[in-house]
Amino acid sequence: MVHAIRFHEAGGPDVMKWEEVEVGDPGPGEIRVKHTAAGLNFIDIYLRSGARPVPMPNGLGLEGAGEIIAVGDGVSDLAVGDRVGYADLPLGAYSEERVMPAKIAVKLPDDISDEQAAGMMLKGMTVQFLIKSCFPVEPGSTVLWHAAAGGVGLIACQWLNHLGVTVIGTVGSEEKAELARAHGCHHTVNYNEEDFVERVQEITDGAGVPVVYDSVGKDTLRGSMKCLQRRGYLITFGNASGAPDPVAPGELSEHGSIYLARPMLFDFTKERDELLACAGDLFDVVSSGAVKIEINQRYPLSETVQAHIDLVGRKTTGSTILMA
Ligand SMILES: NC(=O)c1ccc[n+]([C@@H]2O[C@H](COP(=O)([O-])OP(=O)(O)OC[C@H]3O[C@@H](n4cnc5c(N)ncnc54)[C@H](OP(=O)(O)O)[C@@H]3O)[C@@H](O)[C@H]2O)c1
Repeated sequence: MVHAIRFHEAGGPDVMKWEEVEVGDPGPGEIRVKHTAAGLNFIDIYLRSGARPVPMPNGLGLEGAGEIIAVGDGVSDLAVGDRVGYADLPLGAYSEERVMPAKIAVKLPDDISDEQAAGMMLKGMTVQFLIKSCFPVEPGSTVLWHAAAGGVGLIACQWLNHLGVTVIGTVGSEEKAELARAHGCHHTVNYNEEDFVERVQEITDGAGVPVVYDSVGKDTLRGSMKCLQRRGYLITFGNASGAPDPVAPGELSEHGSIYLARPMLFDFTKERDELLACAGDLFDVVSSGAVKIEINQRYPLSETVQAHIDLVGRKTTGSTILMA
């Protein structure tokens, strides 16, 4: 028997229980992984709280890294002893060991540690698809990125800076502003104290930005529309402050014929070749040193409740991992 976080009903952090579970042998197309660490992500909050309902009871966690300790029939490109990382459904990364589909696991290069992988597979591949596929950024352009000191945010600041993009990043405190600037964010705006729409207009001399990457949702979405140039792109990819009020198509024309997208990583890594290309690009930029994966918080898996309280309480920065 091993331990895993399970929940039997949606609700506050206390619904998560550290339970003994039977893992079993991998079936066809599956692998059994012994985790080193799992990644903590804001999407875990939506899933645990019921904002995104899932069947009950269930495990939690979509991002992890560790070693393969058994393989099922038909798995040809992975073997016992391989170190792997992953970011996808099914839920269950918050566990000491699990059985999972081999098709979502990616072999880790020697220079990527398990801890880095647990802290970046979901967040880093999210940045990759957002800035390379969803709205490919141009060197020399300026973009607005909300929650710039968070897990996804710190990776985005570094990667965009590396690509020659000027980053305006919103943050909730002066300490977070300093951290974002230290990671390549050129202009920080504390949206708890300043009007970020006014600041973006000031910084861009009234031109606005061609794209806003908005994962805060309810509190920022309407303001984000006002930061865009004509025919700009509003990429809404998360709801840390809650789901935004619905947008009527007419609103998009009022803001200069803007485009609105609501993308999900898993739709950009669905095919195995897409997953390997996205992960490979992330491994390359991290191996090159251009993007550093900062693990700013570590918790034992058994203390996941506290990790969730801290993430929702806006106390974390950069990546957080849960040690198996
Ligand atoms: N669509 C996708 O495929 C995809 C994939 C991965 C992540 N995401 C989204 O990306 C976002 C970032 O994820 P993450 O795991 O890296 O989290 P995170 O950015 O480390 O944490 C969320 C941050 O949002 C900010 N925030 C603003 N209002 C908040 C509120 N009312 N409550 C809590 N936080 C608030 C906080 O930063 P400040 O204090 O600086 O405001 C907080 O630190 C999340 O919205 C997540 O759902 C989407």
